[in-house]
Amino acid sequence: VILAPMAGAGGVELAAAVIAGGGVGSLPGAMVSPSDLVEQAAAVRARVHGPLALNFFCHETLPEDGERDQAWLDLLQPFYLAEGVARPERVEAGRRPFDATAAEAVESVRPAIVSFHFGLPPAPLLARVRASGALVIATATTVAEAEWLAAQGCDAIVAQGFEAGGHAGWFLDGHRPVGTMALVPQVIDAVRVPVLAAGGIADARSVRAAMALGAAGVQVGTAYLACPESLASPAVRDRLGTPAGRDSMFISALTGRAARGFPNRLVAEIGPTHPAVPTFPRPAGAIAPLRARAERDGRADYSPLWAGQAAPLARPIGATTLTEQLGAAALAAMELSDAA
Ligand SMILES: Cc1cc2nc3c(=O)[nH]c(=O)nc-3n(C[C@H](O)[C@H](O)[C@H](O)COP(=O)(O)O)c2cc1C
Repeated sequence: VILAPMAGAGGVELAAAVIAGGGVGSLPGAMVSPSDLVEQAAAVRARVHGPLALNFFCHETLPEDGERDQAWLDLLQPFYLAEGVARPERVEAGRRPFDATAAEAVESVRPAIVSFHFGLPPAPLLARVRASGALVIATATTVAEAEWLAAQGCDAIVAQGFEAGGHAGWFLDGHRPVGTMALVPQVIDAVRVPVLAAGGIADARSVRAAMALGAAGVQVGTAYLACPESLASPAVRDRLGTPAGRDSMFISALTGRAARGFPNRLVAEIGPTHPAVPTFPRPAGAIAPLRARAERDGRADYSPLWAGQAAPLARPIGATTLTEQLGAAALAAMELSDAA
């Protein structure tokens, strides 16, 4: 059982609680500096011994497109006015892909696993990760992506179905969403390395289903958002375990890439996608001052509310207990398949 890395929602407490329950604790590196990530890893290790994974984004950074950025700022202009927030002069890119400084963080932490989203880093950086002794795992949303990752030597592949909360990890040929039930067995047939199922897995039933499909394990995100150890915002937490949790959708208007979550006020007004949206991760930079202003008043009008289709199944139990439950289901499923 791997705790899904969840930028903005996971952290030291959640990772430590999952490791204490026998799972793999992941720390998301996409939105923190490498030096903060090193500190977080030390804080987890001060609490608990067990497998730790560091996670990074590997998106392509495209050159700045001033015209497109200005069109996006124009679209947001009424919101800057309404919130009394100054319109930024230019759009800051924000999140950085895995780079040499992040590789140094890996070399200093020496985690058991390094996981990547949106492909893999350039070969010299990947070689440094391997030389640190870490197993390398990465997300595939299609069979073609899984084959590509296996050919680059990934030690395991996370097959991420479209049920999954947060960003879809697609990186080849545009986003063609496939559900977990269809994706996992096809990926298993296509590659020789272990396949971890992700997307919509929230309780013992779905763990058993994933293992019955042949998965070597599961990576679970949304179900952990409801745990007291997560950093999920009240706006997300209020919807978990309730019928309001059924409303997740793919949204690209907040970051420039499809991510599953609940629509906030901005998304309700401009739509989940928009032709003026610049490329990942630039939209978020322009939204940041609006988000900060609203969050000061306790409003989530501009905040990403990432969560997956299993949100109504999420229960507010401790992350250690949840991990033990999911792990017991996985082990029982493995014993069953050994006996068969
Ligand atoms: C709030 C949230 C944030 C996420 N952030 C990341 C991330 O930083 N890196 C990553 O590889 N995956 C991220 N994901 C995707 C997860 O790795 C995983 O694919 C997904 O949570 C599995 O589906 P589930 O949410 O239905 O359990 C995120 C998911 C959520 C719900």
